[in-house]
Amino acid sequence: METALTTQRVFKVVFVGDSGVGKSSFIHRFCNNSFNPSFSATIGVDFQVKTIQIKDTVIVLQLWDTAGQERFRSITKQYFRKADGVVVMYDVTSEASFVNVRNWMTSIKVQSNPVRLKYKENVDEKTVIEILGNKTDMAEGDDHRVVRMNDGKKLALEYESLFFECSAKSGINIQESMAAMADLLKDKEDEELEKALHIHDDPVEKKKCCK
Ligand code: GTP
Repeated sequence: METALTTQRVFKVVFVGDSGVGKSSFIHRFCNNSFNPSFSATIGVDFQVKTIQIKDTVIVLQLWDTAGQERFRSITKQYFRKADGVVVMYDVTSEASFVNVRNWMTSIKVQSNPVRLKYKENVDEKTVIEILGNKTDMAEGDDHRVVRMNDGKKLALEYESLFFECSAKSGINIQESMAAMADLLKDKEDEELEKALHIHDDPVEKKKCCK
């Protein structure tokens, strides 16, 4: 009988970031490999599913696209809970969207950790965070770039996050950044499963026989 070589994992990934940074465009590019320049602002929250394969594992990513606009904040907040992964996006041509990454981190309750003492105080320790600087196509020749790649990298280091620059328009680093997140999600889950198995492996002191 033929046995299935693959196992399947399902992860919830929530996208946050200022309005207009390109969250919907990124998800659209990732799921449909196309770019629609006339996207309108997300109302509340949208949802899409994308399946990818990493080695012998099929990974189902549930992608939650939240609205960046302030007026939807009370709705979008509810979606951070129980996220396996969070993508915090900024636009490399917008200083304000980069500055706001820290505010987004606060609202998903991830603490920056310059001295590596306190980290992810209020979200699950295994939540994977990824910072993405989008719209690199507009920064070619550094014409419209206002956020340097190094500053993005430094911020990601501070929050112990994955980091990529990408472009929903050109398609650069779309698959790569999501594959990196999926890979880490899988590794972290493997670690958890391993830990859970070892709990049952703990040597139990044998009762002494009274004979
Ligand atoms: P909200 O739904 O309001 O939170 O916005 P959003 O973050 O989902 O942004 P959206 O994907 O709607 O994109 C906003 C605008 O930026 C649109 O006009 C997109 O066409 C444009 N855009 C998105 N990604 C890129 C990119 O990589 N390059 C360029 N040049 N434009 C982009």
